[in-house]
Amino acid sequence: MTEDKREPTTIIIFGASGDLTQRKLIPALHSLNCEDALHPDTRIIGVARTELTHEELLDSLYEGVEDYARLNPGICELWDTFAERIHYVSGLYDDPETYKRLDALQKKLDEEGPAAPNRLIYLAIPPVLYTEVIQQLGDGGLASRDDGWTRIIVEKPFGRDLESAQELNEQIHAVFDESQVYRIDHYLGKVTVQNILFLRFGNAIFEPLWNRNYVDHVQITMAETVGVGHRGGYYDRAGVVRDMFQNHLLQLLTLTALEPPSVFTSKTLRDQKVQILQAIRPLTPEDAVFGQYEGYRDERHVDDESNTPTYVAIRVWIDNWRWQGVPFYLRSGKRLCFKTTEITLEFKSVPHRIFPGAHDLPPNRLSIIIQPNESIHLRFETKRPGSGVDTEPVNMVFRYDEHFGDYALPDAYERLLLDALQGDASLFARSDEIELAWQLAEPLLVETEPHLYRQGGTGPEAADGFIGSDGREWFPMDAYHPHHFAEDDTDRPCREA
Ligand code: BG6
Repeated sequence: MTEDKREPTTIIIFGASGDLTQRKLIPALHSLNCEDALHPDTRIIGVARTELTHEELLDSLYEGVEDYARLNPGICELWDTFAERIHYVSGLYDDPETYKRLDALQKKLDEEGPAAPNRLIYLAIPPVLYTEVIQQLGDGGLASRDDGWTRIIVEKPFGRDLESAQELNEQIHAVFDESQVYRIDHYLGKVTVQNILFLRFGNAIFEPLWNRNYVDHVQITMAETVGVGHRGGYYDRAGVVRDMFQNHLLQLLTLTALEPPSVFTSKTLRDQKVQILQAIRPLTPEDAVFGQYEGYRDERHVDDESNTPTYVAIRVWIDNWRWQGVPFYLRSGKRLCFKTTEITLEFKSVPHRIFPGAHDLPPNRLSIIIQPNESIHLRFETKRPGSGVDTEPVNMVFRYDEHFGDYALPDAYERLLLDALQGDASLFARSDEIELAWQLAEPLLVETEPHLYRQGGTGPEAADGFIGSDGREWFPMDAYHPHHFAEDDTDRPCREA
């Protein structure tokens, strides 16, 4: 029998009436509850500035569960008992009375029983409010308790440059011990991202090839079809480097590049990630191409002369024995032709061709498709039937949904909330990791005029020239999604117009 790690906990969500709570946190907690992953005495206290009745809050949370939960009420009918455990405190975040009411409510609920003394605090609020709330939590005596643990989850963006990230770390450490702090990057909660480590270190056949002797280069793509939507105000001050590179892209890079830890613990894993970040050669704006989609400046809350990049392509070098001389090309953009997150290793060509007349043999590729159509593809050459020596590249595929079923992949927030509840910080960023990532990102935060690119395309032409100058090209974004697109299919979303 496996050990029961569930503990009676009060989950306190600051920003209870916000988007993140409605679309991600409550749906994730609902699905966890449906799977009996939460202790039966777990309760949730939402804190919000908005004056809502308890019923109004519950109605909006229910809508979120209906629309976004993996195990929605159509699949799991536990909403009513789950909702009984949701409580609400409304008040201003800079008012000490809010924290007194919060403390009093938790104590009262504990007295009435059953008690849930552990505290998981979630900051689902705009980052400008972090400092205030953290300080008030400290002043109000909510940062620790004698009869249980207290942990705090801090959402991204964690700072907006190195200096502000360092300041925020200092402010947090003045109130919480580092062991209580969980800095979330939702990409690390995706099963397919964790699987990078399992693919590498749970198999004997890949790791011997996973280095400069066999890998020609690596491409990591995070392409989105959406634009900035209603987040224009935030995005225009952030841009793609802060929004995607400093966190998600660098996390994918470190997991792809890190050395095997000798044991799998949060400390060893995070130590290895830090080692890679330290080994990355400092970046300059010349290592990147910036783009902005046409029409971005007309988006709501976006400056009409904005130079904020919505696309970036970056060449990264890792100065260590394993990766010396192997470029990692990273790109991310909004309003592109396809939504995909993928990592592809392209291997070196065969050292010598023995088949006379055969065309140039395309190199092998291993692609890890993080989302959607979560899968792994290995491209290799095969002989065409017939008497000649013609070969053709074919694909060996593993698809998550085919093997594990449709609802098997939990949402990233489910996994991360559960880890934080169980005190496992492996998939959360440590303070040194965050600061190193900002140190790398900072030189790319300079204002430059971005190259405009067509909405629904593959990004700016300059990005093709950038990788082209190294004698390489970007892999098609829709190559494996869905796998039945033929090369000449006119419906292929990423065909250039
Ligand atoms: C968020 C960014 O962190 O990640 C968004 O702020 C982006 O701009 C999103 O759209 C992408 O996440 P996912 O899980 O949809 O790939």
